[in-house]
Amino acid sequence: YFGAATDSPGQRERAGLEAAYPKYDEIMWKSGEFGQTTPTNGQKWLFTEPTQGTFNFTEGDIVASLAHQHHKLLRCHALVWHSQLAPWVDSSSANWTKDELRSIIISHITNVMTHYKGQCYAWDVVNEAFNEDGTYRESVFSTVLGGDEFIELAFKTASELDPKAKLYYNDYNLESPSAKTEAVRKLVRQLQSKKIRIDGVGLQAHLTAESRPTLDEHIAAIEGFAELGVEVALTELDVRLAMPANATNLAQQKEAYKNAVGACVQVEGCIGVTIWDFYDPFSWVPAVFPGEGAALLWFDDFSRHPAYEGVVEAL
Ligand code: XIL
Repeated sequence: YFGAATDSPGQRERAGLEAAYPKYDEIMWKSGEFGQTTPTNGQKWLFTEPTQGTFNFTEGDIVASLAHQHHKLLRCHALVWHSQLAPWVDSSSANWTKDELRSIIISHITNVMTHYKGQCYAWDVVNEAFNEDGTYRESVFSTVLGGDEFIELAFKTASELDPKAKLYYNDYNLESPSAKTEAVRKLVRQLQSKKIRIDGVGLQAHLTAESRPTLDEHIAAIEGFAELGVEVALTELDVRLAMPANATNLAQQKEAYKNAVGACVQVEGCIGVTIWDFYDPFSWVPAVFPGEGAALLWFDDFSRHPAYEGVVEAL
């Protein structure tokens, strides 16, 4: 598949763009450009369990039902993540015991996966648990339970709830071999040796045009996971530029998209690519990386980046 993540209308980040919505929705849902989608925000803990035991699926359901209506495959994102976590989970006054945090994780996964049962091609069960050096990232989950235990608990819990949904570990900077890719490979083998189901590794692929991985680096990273017997997907592809966009950085961006998509096409275990929205004004990049932007395939005026042709060439 080739897909694009999207926000529910209420969550589209920049105000004042309502005039663009009809064109946006036409490309997103009707044009046939995309066969798959992921809700960029609506299924995250912050939105689905904002206070303990109170679940809200309003935002996630909007994208899930649009996906269904327009026959797009749905990737679901994300169950256990240190970021966009509801503040009650990691407030410093919480001081959870191991048992309390275990039941919080079990309850969250159970409620969210049960609600979406049958709708998700895949779930990102754990998102971004590793540092660049391959150690576990500090979070309430790793601090209270330890990295191994919270990840095993999350996958074990998820494995029983929706047998048809593929269970993924998802992270960024996994697009060329590194200490971090080795740590994720080790995690996959560890879950497999304990007979805990893991079906896939998601490479977020938030790339930069200037220091893009080569085709061979992408292929090596993807093969490193695929050879473990799990499927691989590029789950959040975007390629940001140092603004302003110009002929040089747009050409680099085209090569970056072509390399990433081309590697996925060439390695059998890589099953699909999702770009993290398609329209620059809705990209998360400018808010998080000041001075960078134009990371997607459609400019503000809905003309297409040269990188669109790079994707076409790769397919
Ligand atoms: C981003 C969303 O696109 C933004 O709208 C939000 O404000 C922050 O999160 N890794 C992930 C995604 O797994 O969920 C993040 O999405 C981008 C980085």
